[in-house]
Amino acid sequence: MEKIIVRKSPALKGVIKVDGAKNSILPILAATLLCQEECIIHDIPDLQDVKVMCRLLEVLGAKVEKLGRETLKITAKNIATCEAPYELISKMRASFLVMGPLLARCKNAKVCMPGGCAIGTRPIDLHLKGFKYLGADIKSESGYVNARTEKLVGRDIYLDFPSVGATENIIMAATLAEGETILENAAEEPEIVDLANFINSMGGKIVGAGTKTIRIKGVKKLHGTEHTVIPDRIEAGTYMVAAAATGGDLMIENVVPNHLQPVIAKLREAGATVEEYDDKIRVKAGDTIKALDIKTLPYPGFPTDMQAQFMAMLSKAEGTSIINETIFENRFMHATEMSRMGLKVKLEGNSAVLKGSSKLSGAKVKATDLRAGAALIIAGMMAEGETEITEVYHIKRGYSNIVKKLQNLGADINYEK
Ligand code: UD1
Repeated sequence: MEKIIVRKSPALKGVIKVDGAKNSILPILAATLLCQEECIIHDIPDLQDVKVMCRLLEVLGAKVEKLGRETLKITAKNIATCEAPYELISKMRASFLVMGPLLARCKNAKVCMPGGCAIGTRPIDLHLKGFKYLGADIKSESGYVNARTEKLVGRDIYLDFPSVGATENIIMAATLAEGETILENAAEEPEIVDLANFINSMGGKIVGAGTKTIRIKGVKKLHGTEHTVIPDRIEAGTYMVAAAATGGDLMIENVVPNHLQPVIAKLREAGATVEEYDDKIRVKAGDTIKALDIKTLPYPGFPTDMQAQFMAMLSKAEGTSIINETIFENRFMHATEMSRMGLKVKLEGNSAVLKGSSKLSGAKVKATDLRAGAALIIAGMMAEGETEITEVYHIKRGYSNIVKKLQNLGADINYEK
């Protein structure tokens, strides 16, 4: 079983380049199913989740070709089947994003229900509500969702919660519907804007992405396109926190500073110096780390995908920090793992209270999910002795070459088989 071994590391120093965003490329790959012509996509990160989505596209009938290290050409000339199998959907929740495009393109989709995961039950009711409003007849049987329609027709849809995935799935379904869909209380994440830009570059008519109201005018057909994925704000944020946590000084390249405002604000509040440039950010650790109150919220609020990494950093803060998780109901598994390393933390409902000034020491821990895994690496670099992280596949879902990238910055980290 593969493990990551981390030892107390010196202050991270140097320059690091961020990859294309995982949470952008997954819906964009799903959206290539909307179009019969070639779509060329650049800055594709080398991640396990991307491989799963490409495999799913192939099963559905698309041709996936590698044009270079970070470029793919996808051609979904014909759809071979409208059924997305359990083997692939169960590997990655985001593969449910093929439902909207399949329904739009084939008027029929059978997709395995994604089920829960370590961070919560994660229902899909909002996705299905959107498809129903657009005119789909939905049946759930034997673990699959079956959606059929004569034709999709644009409607006004209000999302009870600004779900990222539901917003993306509904945008994709509405792209080929008849008439206009107005999606209210939509998610505003930069990845939604990237998806809308991608679809618009294929001839789609989407306005308002990045705000709470998105208008999608249905079109009959889309054409091929070429697109570059936006930088991964969570990968960037993870290295920013790693710099502050280890007393380091990092220049992080290929970022959109505007996408990282809550992370930048919280790092400054903790005492780090953050310099913003057009497409890079420099983070210099302060002499000490100050305690923080953090509340996760939909964008532009503080991202839930960054709270675990901040928890690792705040282990050595002066004073009490509080992290309030409002997006997922069970996203503190990393707290339990870090407490085995000496983190003084108390969980109260959806809040974690950190006493601060914890002296971390290396231990055997489990990456319970993707961001938890990244947080344990940060904790491992701060801890005395050796930390052994198992269930590394979670980390590989969302961070390409994390071990090599951190070694280049001076970290004492290695894979062990
Ligand atoms: C996306 C991101 C993930 C991030 C999350 C929140 C991708 C591939 N993943 O996940 O990294 O942590 O946004 O920023 O982009 N919900 C419902 N019903 C639904 C859909 C969602 O109740 O139909 C709930 C979920 O259970 C959760 C909350 O809404 O509590 C947010 O989920 P959502 O925004 O949909 O997250 P994902 O799109 O799954």
